[in-house]
Amino acid sequence: MGNIVDDRNIAVVAIDGPSGSGKGTIAQQLAGYLGWHLLDSGALYRLVAVAAQDSATDLDDVAGLSRLAVGLDIRFATGADGTEQIFLRQTDVAGEVRTEETGKIASKIAAMPQVRAALMELQKSFRKAPGLVADGRDMGSVVFPDAPVKIFLTASPEERARRRHKQLKDKGIDVSLPAVSADIAERDRRDRERAVAPLRPAPDAEILDTTGLSINEVFEQVKKIVATALADR
Ligand code: C5P
Repeated sequence: MGNIVDDRNIAVVAIDGPSGSGKGTIAQQLAGYLGWHLLDSGALYRLVAVAAQDSATDLDDVAGLSRLAVGLDIRFATGADGTEQIFLRQTDVAGEVRTEETGKIASKIAAMPQVRAALMELQKSFRKAPGLVADGRDMGSVVFPDAPVKIFLTASPEERARRRHKQLKDKGIDVSLPAVSADIAERDRRDRERAVAPLRPAPDAEILDTTGLSINEVFEQVKKIVATALADR
């Protein structure tokens, strides 16, 4: 990991927002477009959830969960056919990481300040040249407060539930739209109301409401925001 002075020269685009706002897709596309590194911080909270299940760590055991977070041995990769791979130790757990159940456990774990602190260094270590696109809930507000570009994506709860439902169906996961809606509402509430790093835009974030916009339309707007911000640097 570089020192603070070095790190500050490495640009970060922070993309935050609630579930189903499109931030994951946009962050991935933007990292590919810029040729920059990608941090999917939600995946880290999900990996702690998977590690907790694997080791039968109780969800009340804050010290045990924090230890799992500090010791996470992970690697992100892409399979030969383009599928996402997420290795926890040597096992690909991408399927487990992406389930709704894991998301729900992750949001409970993410409300614990000790776990958030335990994941801080790992998140910062993704900041490498030529730049980082960081996707999450608190990238611009807490983890990379000096990021030169901060974007907060939102969309109506109905649209976010529809998008998330389609995403799960496309992956062959069978859940009903009302169930996804209820899950999203519950996770939103927990993410917004927690005491540490609650989901809210950084004061200097550009807020983009993506309701009614296609992913391509959102991507075009995001590219413009990024180009303008980076040109001003
Ligand atoms: O974005 P994703 O759905 O993968 O995130 C899973 C959960 O992890 C979120 O519901 C949220 O509680 C938590 N999270 C967080 N801070 C982040 C990223 C995710 O608290 N930066």
